[in-house]
Amino acid sequence: MAYDAALRKAVDILQNSSSVVAFTGAGISSEAGIPTFRGSGGLWERFRPEELATPEAFERDPERVWRWYAWRIGIVLSAEPTLAHRILARWEDEELLAGVITQNVDGLHQRAGSRRVVELHGRITRARCTGCGRSVELEAPPEEVPPRCGACGSLLRPDVVWFGESLPEDAWREAVELSSSCDAMLVIGTSAVVYPAAQLPLIAKAAGAKLIEVNPEETVLSRRVDAPLRMGASEALSALDEILGG
Ligand code: OAD
Ligand code: ZN
Repeated sequence: MAYDAALRKAVDILQNSSSVVAFTGAGISSEAGIPTFRGSGGLWERFRPEELATPEAFERDPERVWRWYAWRIGIVLSAEPTLAHRILARWEDEELLAGVITQNVDGLHQRAGSRRVVELHGRITRARCTGCGRSVELEAPPEEVPPRCGACGSLLRPDVVWFGESLPEDAWREAVELSSSCDAMLVIGTSAVVYPAAQLPLIAKAAGAKLIEVNPEETVLSRRVDAPLRMGASEALSALDEILGG
């Protein structure tokens, strides 16, 4: 579909939907300087997930895992929400958007002002005690790795979902509810290959919603979307915002 036709289609979908949900991935934060996982320059090109993002890796070498997370926490804490994050937050205020479901762990949607944010994969600036379960907000990367719990002395772990782990139950339930009840889903900046998250656009579509994809690259989802916008997140959302508001 040509650029203009896809944009017109997306606007038409949004104008005819009473409940719109955004489903976001690492691509929306790449414009904030946070590296994505896949694609050129992606983290999984340089690092091996089985050494850094699994419970087994953490058991084997918590220091190594924490060093990598400390580096990523530093990047996240110095990043600012992008125009795309801010437009989604404003659309929620204007009641054009019911909420955001995100695979991102960077907290940028909330920092941009989004209120209903379903975090499927946890939050990188939060740690959780492997002993007593207490959760700890990190205002800076831990100075000593691996950090330990102030209450019980056990190892803290990043409060994110690792490969092989299940998603937080409440978040997943809410994500499924939003996805199966929306009329349109904006799928922004995700390669749509990590399950169960990648199931959500399919759940939405099966329940009758239209899908708008915002991604400069084609994905495995592309052939099933109604309006593919081959642009970066901020460019696409500002183009939509301009037409919708004008
Ligand atoms: P990926 O890194 O797999 O995909 C990022 C997507 O963003 C790619 O399809 C890019 O083409 C696209 N992209 C790049 N720049 C963009 C831009 N400016 N605007 C819009 N899109 C852009 O990220 P996710 O799909 O989020 O899991 O990855 C899913 C999960 O895999 C992550 O949550 C993480 C990872 O392993 C956990 O942490 C559990
Ligand atoms: Zn503890």
